[in-house]
Amino acid sequence: MTTNTKAYRAAILHSLADPAEVGVEQSYEYFEDGILLIENGKVAQVGPAAELLPKLAGVEIQHYRDALITPGFIDTHIHYPQTGMIASYGEQLLDWLNTYTFPTERQFEDKAHASDVAAIFLKELLRNGTTTALVFGTVHPQSVDAFFEQADKLNLRMIAGKVLMDRNAPDYLTDTAESGYAESKALIERWHGKGRLHYAVTPRFAPTSTPEQLELAGKLLGEYPDLYMHTHLSENRKEIEWVKELFPERKGYLDVYDHHKLIGPRAVFAHGVHLCDDECKRLAETGSAVAFCPTSNLFLGSGLFDLNKLEAHGVRVGLGTDVGAGTSFSQLQSLNEAYKIMQLQDKKLDPFKSLYLATLGGANALYLDDQLGNFLPGKDADFLVLDYNATPLMSYRMQQAKSLEERLFALTMLGDDRAVEETFAAGVSVHQR
Ligand code: GUN
Ligand code: ZN
Repeated sequence: MTTNTKAYRAAILHSLADPAEVGVEQSYEYFEDGILLIENGKVAQVGPAAELLPKLAGVEIQHYRDALITPGFIDTHIHYPQTGMIASYGEQLLDWLNTYTFPTERQFEDKAHASDVAAIFLKELLRNGTTTALVFGTVHPQSVDAFFEQADKLNLRMIAGKVLMDRNAPDYLTDTAESGYAESKALIERWHGKGRLHYAVTPRFAPTSTPEQLELAGKLLGEYPDLYMHTHLSENRKEIEWVKELFPERKGYLDVYDHHKLIGPRAVFAHGVHLCDDECKRLAETGSAVAFCPTSNLFLGSGLFDLNKLEAHGVRVGLGTDVGAGTSFSQLQSLNEAYKIMQLQDKKLDPFKSLYLATLGGANALYLDDQLGNFLPGKDADFLVLDYNATPLMSYRMQQAKSLEERLFALTMLGDDRAVEETFAAGVSVHQR
């Protein structure tokens, strides 16, 4: 068998562990002049150029100057059908859904439209250095076929699912408990485990599913190994009150999902802005994850996510853009807003914690840290090249920076798609700026 080998030379930075667990200094590895060696789409080796170069006779080396290579960003919560309605004015969650979201999602009944938007969406993710995402479709199964077809062509590691929604939404956008179950099952059979794709059972949120639908969603999760569960939780105060009215017999919002066996490893709950201690405890003990979605929480006025509280309880936390409520595809911009959310609570977000959240932390939340999130040998070669001279201001700011920490922080404050020079998926270049 011929091996396909290529090396990339630049400054290289990757997370090794959560700074909250091992301390900042032990949480990362950095090579000022490094080599990332890729073989057949996987990481073969990473290390200092001085050490690796002598062993690489005959290997093609691509050298990036004034650049930083990091693992691909991981977006743990995003809606591809909402790409065209990003930046829609004036509403908080429930009115925003009725005014903008539902009419937009209606268009995905048309498979050709879904394919067009999926292509735009994936291109945008890659332009922003995001190589893996946990993605909402719409209620239409063809929306998920369209998405997976495009993602498969690019050989991306992607997770997605059809929305389950059998009440409290327009008739044109609802399924039934039984049809939602059957359609999800057919999609799982077609896509789960194909190439680098995974399926997520996707009840939109508790208010738009009957207990019967949630019960069947839980049943489905028990029928296939390694399925994901993807939904929303405790995002907005009015939403939480509504859940209490709809499910008076349950202890709280999370308990609705818990009761129907929708929590556990690979269950990812977007937002969790207003969780109580008992809910955090339950999320942690079941190995469930929360997607922190900074730009969305600010845009919809949902509230300030308490990262330290979830961390103290040991909950797995990833970073999500939540486009179209989120205002950017860029995880650098998510980190910018995450920092400010912490500031408003008189807390700090260390730049190396930010790196962790956008990469290895996301992989950990998705139980993909054996395959993604850093450059340990054998992992998938999903990575990006960040350009320190992306804009005149960034270039000037970097000249003033005296440490890696300072440069990394400035990247997260000033960076966006302009900073992403090139993106690679499974060792193949999938975006060049
Ligand atoms: N809750 C239920 N549906 C949605 C959605 O589409 N976006 C957000 N941000 N929250 C939701
Ligand atoms: Zn969302």
